[in-house]
Formats: sequence, C-alpha cells, structure tokens
Amino acid sequence: MKTKRENFGGRMAVIMAFAGSAIGLGNIWRFPYLVGQNGGAAFILIYIVFSLALSLPIFLAESAIGRSSQANCLAAVGFLVPGKAGKLLGALLVFTPLWLVSYYSVVGGWSLDFFIQACHLDFIRVTPDQVNGGFERFIVNPWVPLLFHLLFLGITLLVVAFGVTKGIERFCKWSIPALFFIIVAIAIYSLTLPGAFKGVEYLITPDFSKVTAHTFIDALGQSFFSLSLGTGIIITYSSYVKKEENLMVSGAGTAISDLLFALLAGFAILPAVFSAGIEPGAGPTLLFDTLPYIFSNLAQHAPIISAVASILFFLAIILAALTSSISLIEVGAAYFTENRGMKRGWACALLFVLCGAFGALCSLSFGPLSHVKILGLNIFDFADSAASNVFMVLGCILSVILAGWVMPRKVLFQELTNSGTLRLNSRLFKPVLFVLRYVAPIGILVLILSTVL
Ligand code: PHE
Repeated sequence: MKTKRENFGGRMAVIMAFAGSAIGLGNIWRFPYLVGQNGGAAFILIYIVFSLALSLPIFLAESAIGRSSQANCLAAVGFLVPGKAGKLLGALLVFTPLWLVSYYSVVGGWSLDFFIQACHLDFIRVTPDQVNGGFERFIVNPWVPLLFHLLFLGITLLVVAFGVTKGIERFCKWSIPALFFIIVAIAIYSLTLPGAFKGVEYLITPDFSKVTAHTFIDALGQSFFSLSLGTGIIITYSSYVKKEENLMVSGAGTAISDLLFALLAGFAILPAVFSAGIEPGAGPTLLFDTLPYIFSNLAQHAPIISAVASILFFLAIILAALTSSISLIEVGAAYFTENRGMKRGWACALLFVLCGAFGALCSLSFGPLSHVKILGLNIFDFADSAASNVFMVLGCILSVILAGWVMPRKVLFQELTNSGTLRLNSRLFKPVLFVLRYVAPIGILVLILSTVL
C-alpha cells in the first residue's frame, strides 16, 4: 500500500526535530559529570573533535540513507541490501529504538512525578535532610512509577499520533526554544550562588593529567548516544526532509545545538551542586536526589526563587526527555504504518502496548522484580546496557558500512551535495567519505573492543 508521506516544513523545523532527538537525558545527567571526571575543558575539547570529525559524518551517512529512500528504516535498508539479510538488518534499526524508549520512558515518568512534587512545593517545605533518600523510597514503590511511565509514554504517543507535521514538528518547534530559555535562566541564577565558582572551575579547567584512554572512549560513546546515532531515528527523520534542504547544514546545526545545550546544562547544574557543598554524581541520583536536596537547601534563604527554579528544572527535563522519546517512537510508527499498512492511530496504540509492557518490567525491576537478574543486572540496567553497548553500536556500524561501501557513491554524493549544486558540500564530500569508509569503522571497533576487553 502506498501512503502519502509527510515532510518537515523547512530548515528550522528539521533542525528542531533533530535537536529534539539529540537533546535529552544524556545531555543533562551524563555530560556535565563526564566533563568533571575527565579533566574539564580537556574532555570538552576531545568531545568536540569526536563529534565533528566522527559522529557528524555518521549522522550524515544516516541522513543520506534516509532521504534517498523516502521510506521507513526497514524499507530503507532493504533498498540497499536485498533479501532476507536486508530485512534482518533493517529490523535491528526498528527494534533498537522501541527497546530503548521502553526504559527511557520510565525515567520520563520519574521526571513527571518530580515535576508534580515540585509544583506541590514538596522540596521547599521540608528540610534538606527530609528530602534525602526520597528517590530510593519512590522507585521501590510498585505502582506510582509504573503509572507515571505509562502516562509519559501516553503523552509521547499522543504527539506521534498527530503525525510528522502536526505532531512532531509542531511540538519540537516550541519545546526546543523553551528548553534553551529555561536552561539559560537557571544557569544565570546558578552562577550567582555563593561558591558557584568552584562548579565553573570544575567545568572549565583543562586538566590533561586526567585524560586517559578511557576519556576518549567516554567521549566517543557519549557523542554517539547524544546524537542518537545507530537507532534508526536519523534515517527515519531524514526520510521526511525535502530534497532541497542542505543535509550538512541541518546535521551541523543539530550537533552544535546539542553541544551547546550540554554545556548550558553543565553551567546550570554544577555551580549549584558545588554551592551546596556536595560532590556531583551521574545518572538518576544527580537529577532525583541531589537536585531536590539543593532546592530544599536554597529554600532556606530564597523560597520563591527555589520553588520557581525547581518547577522549571523538572519541566525542562520532561521536555528534553519527551522530544527524544517522540523520535524513538516515530521509527516504529513509520514502520507499522508503511510496511504493515496500519492507520497511525492503531500503530500508536500497538506501540503503547508493546513499549508499555516492556517498560513496566523495567520500572518494576527497582521494586517487586528487583530479584530478577540478567547477566548480573536488574532488568532496567540490562535494558540500558544492551541498548547503549550492543544495539546502538551495531546500528552505527551498519550505517557507516551501508553509506560508505554499499550505497552507490553517486547517490551519496547527490544526497549530501544536492547533486553538486552546493559548492562547500561538494568540497567536503571526499573527506566525509574517507571518514565513513575508514576512520569511523576503526573508531567503532575500538569502542567495541574497549567494552569487551
Ligand atoms: N540523544 C538522547 C539523549 O541525549 C538519547 C537518545 C539516544 C535518544 C538514542 C534517541 C536515541 O538523551
């Protein structure tokens, strides 16, 4: 069945949608921490080099595969690799984001709950000591996190059900600017706190003595995760990009806004963390333990500002997580509507059941199912580790090989340079191809060996 495909409205719409996918929990809960751990500005420098020299070309590879196919991931891979093998490889790219969104939306659910707590002034009305440990009590509860996971997933699917233009584009066009506005406002406030300078120091002091082999691996892995590579998202979103758009400009715009947001998140969070006299951690503890503690601490002197900051901050986390989860779900929605001929509404309902059920297991793995271990990890951690260490890495290899070696060079050139009409792009084509053919596969191989060994 041939369905009429939608398109993103223009360059801004394309960048906002891509940036929406890229900007997410990775920027807020991992990047600032990695910067501090790996020698401040030294890490930022390595991260920028990797993002521009390696991740951006892979992003372009996925963009070219997507736009040339004008189809969902499974079909796009099928055009390049015919037969069963193509189907299997394409299925990996449809499966990965659905697996990922199932546990991502559990964290999205936690953010929703904490946003509501912030609106009830829960962090403001109690002493910092009473806030302590609140997150541990919250996640072991079987029902509340589960319901919020389903609510978060439901909101995601509602946006996706409206379609590419009326749903995704419209949502990202206001939420991404809003996100930047909130994070800048919080960063400005955070920098005025007493002792904030220590946080700035932590972020910007280039300490090359802390740079080890692991720094490079962390930078590469974070850069892949942050740009949502290897998940079929860039392929799917690019299939909605019009032929006259400049893929290199939208790719660079996405990488730059993603980096800028990560830095802003660092300047919003770390000065406040140091001002409260605590050590920064990564992951859920940073967002759901440390930050409520800081808000409660701040409320002792400035209750109103602290209340506003806590509400805005959790709102920002929800928006960042939503724009990413929307992109993850769209891969499945495109597959079910185009390949299985389903109506968008029904496809979304099916995705709600599938991802809701797997996510429920992830959510319960902190409470009633905490005894279930897979390879020594609880279900949530196993899902996370399989996605970031296995599925996404395989997806990245697949993309570079398809674009660098399988796709006819002429087609890749046409997509990245708009048939040679973009002069700067045409000049950059050869270096990009070189990275795709040689540098990227080696870089990914090193990443794999580092996790295996
Ligand atoms: N890029 C998102 C983040 O930084 C996470 C993500 C990964 C989203 C892969 C989609 C696909 O949080």
